[in-house]
Order: sequence, then C-alpha cells, then structure tokens
Amino acid sequence: MNISTKPSKIKTSDWQKKISKIIRTRRSVYADEFVKQNISDELLNEILINATYAPTHKMTEPWRFVVFKDNYLEQLGSFLSEYYKEFYFQKFSADEALEKYNRLKKYPLNSACVIGVVMARNHKIDLPEWEEIAAVSCAVQNIALTCTAHNIGSYWSTSAGAIDYLKQFDLAENEKSLGLIYVGYYPDDIEPSRKKRTSVSKKVTYFK
Ligand SMILES: Cc1cc2nc3c(=O)[nH]c(=O)nc-3n(C[C@H](O)[C@H](O)[C@H](O)COP(=O)(O)O)c2cc1C
Repeated sequence: MNISTKPSKIKTSDWQKKISKIIRTRRSVYADEFVKQNISDELLNEILINATYAPTHKMTEPWRFVVFKDNYLEQLGSFLSEYYKEFYFQKFSADEALEKYNRLKKYPLNSACVIGVVMARNHKIDLPEWEEIAAVSCAVQNIALTCTAHNIGSYWSTSAGAIDYLKQFDLAENEKSLGLIYVGYYPDDIEPSRKKRTSVSKKVTYFK
C-alpha cells in the first residue's frame, strides 16, 4: 500500500476534538457574570457571519440581527426594570422589589453587546413557521458556539421583556421578535456550570 508521508492538510482528529470541546464547553453565561470589556467590530462581525451560515430550508435565511451597544444597554436596563416593576411590587416586599428593580436596571451594562434576534419570514416561500424558527435557532447556536470558541459568554433571553424590547425597533409585518442574546466577557475564575446532561442512552432509540 502506498502510504503518503505528507502531513494531512486537514487534521481531522484535531477538528473532531475541537468541535466536541466547543459544543460541550458552551454554557449560558448570564449578564451579571460579565466583566466590562469591549468587543472589536471584527470579532462581532465574525460572530454574525457565522450566524448566517446556519442551515435554512429553501435558503429563506429567515433572520435579521439588531446589535445594541453603549447607551442602548442603559436604555435596555431601564426598559426591563420598568417592564417588571409592577410585577415586582405586587409579588415581593417593597425592599425586595426595589432591590430587584435596581438590579435589573444595571443588568445589561457589562455586556459587550446585546444582539436582538428577529425572525423574518420569506414573502414568497411559505414554509411552516416552525421551520423558520428552527433555522433562526440554528443561527443563534452558531453565535453561541463562536462566542465559546473566543472565550466570550452568551445566552439567549426570551423573557417577555426581552421580546418586547426588540419589538420597538421597526420590525416589519413579516418579522417577529425572538428575544435577545447577551454577549460579554467573563472573569477567568467563573464558576463552571453545574447543569448536568441526561445520559444519551435515555434520549436515543435505535432500530437496527
Ligand atoms: C430558546 C431558548 C430560550 C431561552 N430563554 C432563556 C431566558 O429567557 N432566560 C434565561 O435565563 N435563559 C434562557 N435560555 C437559556 C437556558 O436557560 C439554558 O440554555 C439552559 O438552562 C441550559 O444551560 P446551558 O445553556 O448553560 O447549557 C434559553 C435557551 C433557549 C434555547
């Protein structure tokens, strides 16, 4: 057998290890764990380009992203704290409610940015909505995985406040707010995630 001694251009085993490492070390990092640090335009662009490489049935590419930075993080904090104010004061003591209100007001401030996730349905190709949401979710996962690969934290917030915040930014009639992705740097000594995964044997059925 003629075995080539040339080094392989693609180190398959490295790829395989890297993809599993990135997938399995991705975790939701919440905005109150972030440390304030700017994200470069180049890296943010890389993250967003990777989002657009998500699979999409019939190439509808049913997504649009809205990036919030700087003053908009303050505006988001104010919006969210006002949004939940009544709920807090109904459900908690005045002191607790005020603490929660103030915490939420500051919550987004250490984010490097917040990315609004818009599902934009195709006018001509009428796919079932779930397929379009699935495609956008794949794009969101690409964002999360790219962040992980760059040691950046992120998580997808689909709270009513997050959904409604994004709705204020000129969504067209074919568009729907799917919430916000908080993106930010985290300290080296961040607590590892304690969320365990159910064994794959309980999640898979084989017919063979
Ligand atoms: C569609 C979707 C919506 C989510 N919405 C929220 C949310 O509104 N608030 C939140 O704290 N986490 C939200 N998450 C993050 C999940 O809580 C998190 O992914 C889950 O606990 C597993 O943890 P991990 O991401 O660290 O593996 C959402 C995740 C997904 C996939």
